[in-house]
Amino acid sequence: MTALDARPETTATLRFPAGFRWGTATAAYQIEGAAAEDGRTPSIWDTFSRIPGKVRNGDTGDIAADHYHRVSEDIALMKRLGVTDYRFSIAWPRVQPTGRGPAVQKGLDFYRGLVDELLASGIRPVATLYHWDLPQELEDAGGWPQRETAQRFGEYAGIVSGALGDRVATWTTLNEPWCAAFLGYGNGVHAPGRTSPLASLRAAHHFNLAHGWAVRELRSRLPAQCEVSLTLNLHAVRPLSDSAADADATRRIDAVGNRIFLDPVFHGRLPEDLVRDTAPVTDWSFVRDGDLEAASAPIDSLGINYYSPTVVAAGSSPAPSPWAGAEEHVRFVPAPGPRTAMDWPVDAEGLYELLTRLRDDLPGVPLVITENGAAYDDYADPSGAVKDPERVAYLRAHLAAVHRAIEAGADVRGYFLWSLLDNFEWAYGYSKRFGIVHVDFATQRRTFKDSAHWYADVIARGGLSS
Ligand code: FCB
Repeated sequence: MTALDARPETTATLRFPAGFRWGTATAAYQIEGAAAEDGRTPSIWDTFSRIPGKVRNGDTGDIAADHYHRVSEDIALMKRLGVTDYRFSIAWPRVQPTGRGPAVQKGLDFYRGLVDELLASGIRPVATLYHWDLPQELEDAGGWPQRETAQRFGEYAGIVSGALGDRVATWTTLNEPWCAAFLGYGNGVHAPGRTSPLASLRAAHHFNLAHGWAVRELRSRLPAQCEVSLTLNLHAVRPLSDSAADADATRRIDAVGNRIFLDPVFHGRLPEDLVRDTAPVTDWSFVRDGDLEAASAPIDSLGINYYSPTVVAAGSSPAPSPWAGAEEHVRFVPAPGPRTAMDWPVDAEGLYELLTRLRDDLPGVPLVITENGAAYDDYADPSGAVKDPERVAYLRAHLAAVHRAIEAGADVRGYFLWSLLDNFEWAYGYSKRFGIVHVDFATQRRTFKDSAHWYADVIARGGLSS
């Protein structure tokens, strides 16, 4: 009998299915630091964070949580948590600095070391190939609005999977292509900071294509038991009222926020209404024969990142907007209720809505929550404790929503808490703390927050206690 079998059934009132994956998630630029070490060259985030006014406080990822030098310490934290899986991303400019040509061995070695140590600790590695750190040279050559970037990404996927393929259980091609395309090239709040509706739509298409080409490369190199996936930040979009105009606003955001990826990837087509809505911006002639077929190469699961819902009404949004083709028809309404330090509403119902929608729209596609979590203004008190009851409440409510969705028939296989560590939160720099482990950035000291103890208990019980 194992320790798990010995647990009384009653210790968890909301028990998750046997084999449910419990993880934490991070991303390379947000934690690694070592920005100029071992051959790594600048990514678009290194460049962008140096432009005055783009990142709060002028923060950069130069040092971040210094994870590059603290891998063993951070894996030990995960062992204490008892996670079954760890989702991390691979920095493209670390393994293929210019985005072209052969790999840098030291870059590959870093990830091989990480993966080997995870495996030795009994933690399943889940690798994301792109979490927003495009090599700057590829941006200089046109970036994601250029088709060639998708081709380069396919080659990079081949290099990395050839080197690590036998050791990484799950490969995710892209993280949140919506953010990368529309915040990066639409409203410019993320790197590379461009503000062009056309560039954002071209980027979105090239992300779909890059995903499909990467899937092809991965499949040709990986052992059959490896899983291939994609992570989307799907919008749980709701109308403000039941008016026809608000319903149309909802449809528009669903098209340019969700179906712009879901339809090509799962059905090999572009949403007709999206093409109509965006006609003032583009005729989509950059989509070539065979592209949508390539984008729809079958995958093994869909990753979903969820933080809060999106409420919309008929109206218009200020420029520059990330909502190409919808900005003159939709206004965004703050959802009611409590807020996190990001000013994001706390609303677990949105996650339930998303999961049950995907149960209906994508039957047979296993789902994984690849990110969920919250930022609060955490600090270590004089006793050294970091008390974060709001985060615990947020996590508990969202896990309960996942449990309810599973009971309602959604095939959810795992949950990755964002994030293991406090880190570089993109345009917010270090001002927002999402970790369940507190990082003192002056000393790099790590401290379990109360939420980390709570999550370890959830994992040990296999669910939530009452
Ligand atoms: C997601 C990103 C992740 C993190 C969280 C808070 O959009 O994928 O890197 O910044 O938001």
